[in-house]
Amino acid sequence: MAWLGAELNRHIYAYHVLDAPTIPDADYDRMFRELQQLEAAHPEAVSQDTPTSRVGAAPIPEFKQVTHTVPMLSLNNAFSPEDVENFDKAVRKGLAAEQVDYASELKFDGLAISLRYEDGVFVQAATRGDGATGEDVTVNIRTVRSIPLRLRGDAVPRLLEVRGEVLMFKADFAKLNARQRDAGQKEFANPRNAAAGSLRQLDSRITAARNLRFFSYGVGALEGADLPESHAALLDWLGALGLPVSNERAVVAGAAGMLGYYASVGKRRAGLPYEIDGVVYKANRLEYQRQLGFVSRAPRFAMAHKFPAEEALTEVQGIDVQVGRTGAITPVARLAPVFVGGVTVENATLHNEGEVRRKDIRIGDTVIVRRAGDVIPEVVSFVPERRPANAREFVMPTACPVCGSPIVRLEDEAIARCSGGWTHCSAQKKGGLMHFVSRRAIDVEGLGDQLIEQMVDKGVIHTAADLYALDQDKLSSLDRMAAKSAQNVIAALEKSKDTTLARFIYALGIRNVGESTAKALAQYFGNLDALLHAASWEGGIQLLEVADVGPIVARSIADFLTDPQNAELVAQLRAQLRWKEGAHVMKAVGALAGKTFVLTGTLPTLSRDAAAALIEAAGGKVSGSVSKKTSYVVAGEDAGSKLTKAQELGIAILDETALQELLAGAGAASPTEE
Ligand code: IVH
Repeated sequence: MAWLGAELNRHIYAYHVLDAPTIPDADYDRMFRELQQLEAAHPEAVSQDTPTSRVGAAPIPEFKQVTHTVPMLSLNNAFSPEDVENFDKAVRKGLAAEQVDYASELKFDGLAISLRYEDGVFVQAATRGDGATGEDVTVNIRTVRSIPLRLRGDAVPRLLEVRGEVLMFKADFAKLNARQRDAGQKEFANPRNAAAGSLRQLDSRITAARNLRFFSYGVGALEGADLPESHAALLDWLGALGLPVSNERAVVAGAAGMLGYYASVGKRRAGLPYEIDGVVYKANRLEYQRQLGFVSRAPRFAMAHKFPAEEALTEVQGIDVQVGRTGAITPVARLAPVFVGGVTVENATLHNEGEVRRKDIRIGDTVIVRRAGDVIPEVVSFVPERRPANAREFVMPTACPVCGSPIVRLEDEAIARCSGGWTHCSAQKKGGLMHFVSRRAIDVEGLGDQLIEQMVDKGVIHTAADLYALDQDKLSSLDRMAAKSAQNVIAALEKSKDTTLARFIYALGIRNVGESTAKALAQYFGNLDALLHAASWEGGIQLLEVADVGPIVARSIADFLTDPQNAELVAQLRAQLRWKEGAHVMKAVGALAGKTFVLTGTLPTLSRDAAAALIEAAGGKVSGSVSKKTSYVVAGEDAGSKLTKAQELGIAILDETALQELLAGAGAASPTEE
């Protein structure tokens, strides 16, 4: 039992802390079950650090209170470079030092926890609570695989309290919410709430299923060992004891060093697998930390430098719908202006009607709005306690608010659409034009959204082709359009005429055709006529030969390009734009297309796989059983029942030579296109 326990703990450490698995999962599971069985038979010999305790235990009635031997404090916050400079000044003044080095690390966005190890064995875990007393979450913390149940090495302290953060990785958070959704249960607003909710479970088996993680960032009580000289060395030491410590840390000099660290982490923030809400600076020398001491509830030697909050509370004042360039109707929450993620947000997308229902967002609700990095703002969830009695549900309009056409929703689509089309619906027209001139499409510099709106509203342009008929006269009739600006627009339009086929295809704004699909189409077909021909032939079936193009995309392309009004627009535009046309090298559609073959028995020279490959290369299909639909049965030595059946059904029977002749003919088959 001792051997199995130690082995399993070694593998858990390798997997969850080092990220370097040492044995296959199945072997691990087998050893784990064996230990469980032995423990059931010999309960008196169960070790304190047995890995079987990580699966959770029977629910407890309530959490016990734990008084922290060393209080768990909080940090003062800095929000600006000046705050950081002032922090550095105060530290240097307090120490009468010229320059101070700071251990800089991430401010993990989870919840603080204190882990108690006695003689190297994990005995207790407590939440921060009010800093003086917290809750005993020992059984729950046992389920966190990266937290060692026994410290590594021979020189373990008699008592060690490790302080750190429990959190949930973004990917685990997404999976958890997907599971909650499928089970019809409430989703968590963010990974921090999910981590807190998972840890504060009276049934620790639930915690065990949630994949929580832990990073150490400090020490509380310590007996029977000396602290190292610096905070950086302290974290190294914790790492050596088998505790998880993040690698994202650095020792930097002075305010400039801290600000540099802040900027560099800011750039990497979105790419981290977990959420952080800032960075933390700590005077690196522990002697300095002792000298500086504490003021009220926070250390003088440390400072949290926060990133702009990515979430904020605000009120939903209304829910409107927006009409996109493909007619997609998107519900948009109109919000009381709120500063979040570094900008003031007044609107946030609700994606589609299903999303509004699923999140149960109503007009009048107080909601959490999130804007992370450059991602468009979104409504995360509403705050139930703050829902007013008169909160109103969103009603999806039945007619397009812009053109009045019916709004339709196909059965298999989440998105409702305006059925007016771009020729009828000015919102789609504007959206389509804005897309057409955008930088990655036709790239007309200086032709902004407002100008397009105005030109469509005034009836100056209707289609992308009209853009190229604009002249000084037409442009001067617009508001805020000086002669010079008009000239610039005309020059930019002229310049945009030199383009590429890929850009042109992308600029058309065909639903489901993004930049990469447009490039693939341009590359595959080489010229516009080949694409148009493929789109018009048998519902665009030939489009499926282009890498990345599946049935849905092929359908969109065929529908778009065969629509008479779109076809006319394409014809007008190709007369105005220029791009290099290439030859379309068609793959021969073999003469065996539509023919089904069945192979049976042993052929004299060809293996069965080789024969099948040759048939398929010539466009034929190979099937395993003979039916009326079989075109040919290729029979070799020892052919059995398949041959008999073919004879009964009167199907043509070939030997290898006859097959080779057929294939030779197929190779010379004429392509369907030049
Ligand atoms: S040190 C005495 N380091 O931030 C200083 N805290 O406002 C103790 N936190 O409750 C905290 N990452 O949960 C420290 N690298 C880090 C941290 C960190 C996150 C949290 C911690 C604490 C809060 C302080």
